[in-house]
Amino acid sequence: MKAVCTGSAPSTLDTLKLVEVDAPPAPGPGEIQVALKASSLNYHDYAVVKGMIPTPEGRIPMSDGAGEVIAVGDGVTAYAVGDLVVSTFFPDWLDGQPPATAFTRVPGDGINGYACEQITAPTTWFTRAPTGYDAAQAATLTCAGLTAWRALFVDYTLKPGDTVLVQGTGGVSIFALQLAKAAGATVIATSSSDEKLERVKALGADHVINYKDVPAWGPKALELTGGRGVDCVVEVGGAGTLDQSMLAARVGGHIALIGVLTGMAGPVQTALLFAKNLTVQGLTVGSRQHQLDMIAGIEANGIEPVISDRFALADLADAFRHQESGKHFGKIVIDI
Ligand SMILES: NC(=O)c1ccc[n+]([C@@H]2O[C@H](COP(=O)([O-])OP(=O)(O)OC[C@H]3O[C@@H](n4cnc5c(N)ncnc54)[C@H](OP(=O)(O)O)[C@@H]3O)[C@@H](O)[C@H]2O)c1
Repeated sequence: MKAVCTGSAPSTLDTLKLVEVDAPPAPGPGEIQVALKASSLNYHDYAVVKGMIPTPEGRIPMSDGAGEVIAVGDGVTAYAVGDLVVSTFFPDWLDGQPPATAFTRVPGDGINGYACEQITAPTTWFTRAPTGYDAAQAATLTCAGLTAWRALFVDYTLKPGDTVLVQGTGGVSIFALQLAKAAGATVIATSSSDEKLERVKALGADHVINYKDVPAWGPKALELTGGRGVDCVVEVGGAGTLDQSMLAARVGGHIALIGVLTGMAGPVQTALLFAKNLTVQGLTVGSRQHQLDMIAGIEANGIEPVISDRFALADLADAFRHQESGKHFGKIVIDI
């Protein structure tokens, strides 16, 4: 079968290569064989293929995969041949608290991922896809969709009438916008592009701020809430945006600390944290049970992912160059 894998470490986009590798074995007891049809790009995958997250030569990247079950092993009753399934980010985190092993078993990072044509794996590595979704849509959920879900409904309990702030227009933030609107929240969205801000308004954003034109967007968001502040911030920027998020938040507000778009570390106004009695919750995607809950939520609300662009598996490096350019809006999908 065909697969894309990294070249000699540290990986670069120029050394990603399309190769022929052995097809996976027939499924054993409790396993399924899946013909992968789609994957999608996340910043985490970008960090792997750019060598920012060290992986050995020959690693097959991509944490997200969706496809059709083509064979089932003995004892498998959860899936049948022909079912559309979607991968989970942490194959070993089924429910409860996050695993201590962190990223050592995340597909496309600690182990091989989904930039390939087939995989044989335990049934628990997958969930069903939402009814009505195709593979491309399903492949957007594993990382970005579930992270947004957890930020709003697992670590925070979003209520109708709450105000949510989402930063930028990447995969996590557009899902957060869609999910927050479906739950009856008011959404403030930021972007570096006025054209993209028009697109988030079309998706339901109530207020928009261009964070390049308004670097002090925290006080601006506070003003947009009549001085009360935002209930929940979906923080994907990291150290470089956290101060503005704290300024935007209401007293007692919640900040879901998710991303590193501005870097891995930096100075933070810790005094503002306690002065405003804020909760900052770090999170890493979610469990298989969270994914099943999200799928129920998506189906009940008819949410469809926003797919910005599609590339063939052979053009994976170009897909990452496109992500790097920042031109995308929502998810970039790989057709396999
Ligand atoms: N902790 C977790 O479990 C988890 C899970 C998923 C993702 N993440 C992290 O979350 C972040 C976003 O991931 P993603 O996959 O959604 O990325 P992505 O799709 O590549 O989105 C990137 C977008 O973020 C916006 N952006 C860039 N710099 C920004 C800044 N300084 N302030 C506000 N927005 C900015 C830009 O939007 P505009 O073009 O509109 O400005 C850019 O297009 C990454 O750091 C990723 O590692 C973490």
